[in-house]
Amino acid sequence: MKSSGIVSLALSLSVLIFSCGKKEEVPSPKIGLIAEKAMVVSAREEASQIGLKILQKGGNAFDAMMATEMALAVTFPFAGNLGGGGFMVYRMADGSTGSIDYREKAPMAASKDMFLDENGDFLSQLSTKGALASGVPGTIAGIFEAQSKFGKLKPSEILQPVIDLAKNGFVVTAAQADRLKRNRETFIDVNGPHTFFAREIRAGDTLKIPVLAATLERIAKNGRDEFYTGETAKILARYIQEKGGIITEADLASYQAVWRDPIIYPYRDLKIISMAPPSSGGVTLVQILKMLEPYDLQALGHHSPEYIQLLVEAERRAYADRNYYLGDPDFVKIPVNELLDTEYLKSRMSNFSFEKATRSSEISQGNISFAESMETTHYSIVDAEGNAVSVTTTLNGAYGSKVYIDELGFFMNNEMDDFSAKPGVPNMFGLIGAAANSIAPGKRMLSSMTPTIVEKDGKLWIVVGTPGGSTIITSVLQTILNVAEFGMGMQQAVESPRFHHQWLPDLVNFEPNSFDSTLISTLKARGYLINEANSPIIGKVDAILVLPDGRLEGGADPRGDDKAAGF
Ligand code: GLY
Repeated sequence: MKSSGIVSLALSLSVLIFSCGKKEEVPSPKIGLIAEKAMVVSAREEASQIGLKILQKGGNAFDAMMATEMALAVTFPFAGNLGGGGFMVYRMADGSTGSIDYREKAPMAASKDMFLDENGDFLSQLSTKGALASGVPGTIAGIFEAQSKFGKLKPSEILQPVIDLAKNGFVVTAAQADRLKRNRETFIDVNGPHTFFAREIRAGDTLKIPVLAATLERIAKNGRDEFYTGETAKILARYIQEKGGIITEADLASYQAVWRDPIIYPYRDLKIISMAPPSSGGVTLVQILKMLEPYDLQALGHHSPEYIQLLVEAERRAYADRNYYLGDPDFVKIPVNELLDTEYLKSRMSNFSFEKATRSSEISQGNISFAESMETTHYSIVDAEGNAVSVTTTLNGAYGSKVYIDELGFFMNNEMDDFSAKPGVPNMFGLIGAAANSIAPGKRMLSSMTPTIVEKDGKLWIVVGTPGGSTIITSVLQTILNVAEFGMGMQQAVESPRFHHQWLPDLVNFEPNSFDSTLISTLKARGYLINEANSPIIGKVDAILVLPDGRLEGGADPRGDDKAAGF
């Protein structure tokens, strides 16, 4: 389908079904945007369109990554960023794979107990709000590293449409206006009454950010060094220190993105390619899939009590391991092979029974745990050559630390909260960490980001990922299973309701009003503790599926303003 203008095929057609002589209307599954050759799916239509424009100009997926990531920083400051970090997993058209880690790092002046008071109590405000909460940003290093290695266009050419977008403005959506309003007092509290986002912003307003356009212009001219050693670095370090933070110019100058081998494991006839530590995403996703593999999921039925039990029990066990064993591989030894060993994972499930829930108090890390945010963002890209990138990037919390550098036009992350500031005490996502993820100077904090690519029969099949803090892994899992086990299309798989369990707290979270009450009662009777009332949106998945005829179907999550664009 030709399409740049077509946002979605999302058919609202219904099929008529005749049963027992009665006519019932069953909505037909949603179908996402279908494109012949190339696609970008992201949290904002403008970002997807700019990525697409770069692809149409002859750029490849890595060029489009730079454009999409920076367009999200302009139009989606909630999570899109220059002041944060992320992870990218790629698969080239020839089947070669790799990944880049541009996760933030603890500043050199950071220390293990920096968020504890004199009694050793955790001061969670300090790790979530204000300048001390920020790690050294990695985003600009990451996009330049990836683009310079694999891209085809000049960064200045790629960044020009983003600079124009920041100068000319974008239209604020209703959800965005609401989020900005809810956070306005905090922006003022952290940055003073004259900060850019102190203004009242309404849905439908056109928001121009000329200061960010100027920062991007300098980066387009001077490259990544502008951010790490240039004028931008000086302004950033000065503002952070004025606000009581500890990031120095030396911290910025020494930041490097790191190429890492992805986690690659088979699941049935598929190959899962996902992010390795310091993200827990790949290890935990594969652990869960391997625990599920011995079971016939199709026979259990989609969203049957037994299917939900099985996923929850596998998740419980995998998250207990995550929180104990995982951290920055440059600082701690992570037993990846042991954690992914088939016999080990079989033994982890040996005490599971469909009769009754296991209690999380009965499960600890296996003999051989961790932390993160809802306010991340993910985009998936496939270019016309067949190269794919799966990218998840974040400021951690909504608008990160809320520190907004007015001279530069962007927010800083609060990623220091993803460390385990005090073993055994939950972070903002209720995740409980251990020594492997304790704070140390120059260390990367553990993440849940799970940018993932799935191959089938040796060919590119799915590009997927999502925001959602601790729920990222389980949302990616369910999306893959929806397609692989239950034959859903990409949009349908993305829209399907989701549930989540993370070992502690020992609760199964369901998207509100999305699951049948009989199902919930059955699970309660089997001993599951359910949270439906206070369960936020679980992930916003943006994904691409390669259809049997080689065309692409986008899955853009309607839980956000997400959109696919393709040609
Ligand atoms: N800050 C969210 C994550 O890294 O998982």
